[in-house]
Amino acid sequence: MQAATHETLDIEAIRRDFPILDQNVNGKPLVYFDNAATTQKPLPVLNALTRYYEGYNANIHRGIHHLAEKATSAFETSRRTIQQFLNAGEVEEIIFTYGTTDGINLVAQTYGRRFLKEGDEIIISTMEHHSNIVPWQMLCEEKGCVLKVIPVNDAGELILEEYEKLLSERTKFVSVVHVSNALGTINPVQTIIEKAHAVGAKVLIDGAQASSHIDIDVQALDVDFYVFSAHKLYGPTGMGVLYGKRALLEAMPPYRGGGEMIKEVTFEKTIYNDIPYKFEAGTPNIADVIAVQSALEYMETLGKNNIAAYEHGLLEYATDALSSIEGLRLVGTAKEKISVLSFVIDGIHHQDTGVILDQQGIAVRTGHHCAQPLMRRFGITGTSRASFAVYNTREEIDRLVEGLHRVRKMML
Ligand code: ALA
Repeated sequence: MQAATHETLDIEAIRRDFPILDQNVNGKPLVYFDNAATTQKPLPVLNALTRYYEGYNANIHRGIHHLAEKATSAFETSRRTIQQFLNAGEVEEIIFTYGTTDGINLVAQTYGRRFLKEGDEIIISTMEHHSNIVPWQMLCEEKGCVLKVIPVNDAGELILEEYEKLLSERTKFVSVVHVSNALGTINPVQTIIEKAHAVGAKVLIDGAQASSHIDIDVQALDVDFYVFSAHKLYGPTGMGVLYGKRALLEAMPPYRGGGEMIKEVTFEKTIYNDIPYKFEAGTPNIADVIAVQSALEYMETLGKNNIAAYEHGLLEYATDALSSIEGLRLVGTAKEKISVLSFVIDGIHHQDTGVILDQQGIAVRTGHHCAQPLMRRFGITGTSRASFAVYNTREEIDRLVEGLHRVRKMML
């Protein structure tokens, strides 16, 4: 893997690290523009999975035999790598989950159920993914809390003055997305966190879309909880991370009961384990936890700033290029954006757009992007969404533009 220099990226070399990209779909070279749904996985990640299963597959923390020791050591090394990735103060503050959704549910069901009560207010925003809406609604239903929602403007940016108006001594929790999956908007999370803390509320940031594009420093942000999924940053599916401040994690009850999360079990009483294990009942996703380390190292080798700069170039190029398509309207034109382009075309259903693009080998996501309230805010049922990763190219964007001309020709 020799794809990066200090300053620039060799995209052709990077593409060779992702074997899946080298295939034809419907007779055309694949253009994969569904990276906000999941990114493809580079060889170092695939090799890490194979190495584990071929060489040292064993359950962790339990055995004293060689393979178990080796698996446990790789598993815990991955936790330290993630600690560094987030700049968390302590390795015990890193909890392995099954993904962003799992992390949010964990916090709602443990911190929320233990510490929130009737009449307490929880603030989310209009641009949340369903995974950062429904867990809080479930909590509100159970505990009698009240959900408040920060509106967005026509560009798809949070209206901070409205956020300030929602904040009061009744606000106990704020849960907001770092980067919108449907619009690409980068939210000013530092300000959001500071303002929430000023009224004594705790804050969770959903980093699912941010983690592969933006440097995250949980200590500088002073965020209480930060969640993300490995599969959106070139790692495996079914593996995610919850960062939480030690004092909060220690005060929270466990989420699931089972093996590993205990110190001692009798039929009368169970003494729970320390963090992080208190929240990791059962056999975890060992292989994927180990492999995510390779994904983070891969990104580190390329340089996160290099990746962000390259993707920003793609975003600017594509924003210009798509403006040549008659009747196309971008949904989400925030000043601060990652490389996500959501759009609608007058008179054409987004699903038809997706199907016709697929016939040309171009993969985009269509629909509501698990953000129905946001779609309603824009008066639409869905969009087509092209989202870029480090292996995408301007030539592929040209293919998308050609493809969209074809969509218009066929549909209008
Ligand atoms: N949340 C993922 C997306 O936006 C699945 O596509």
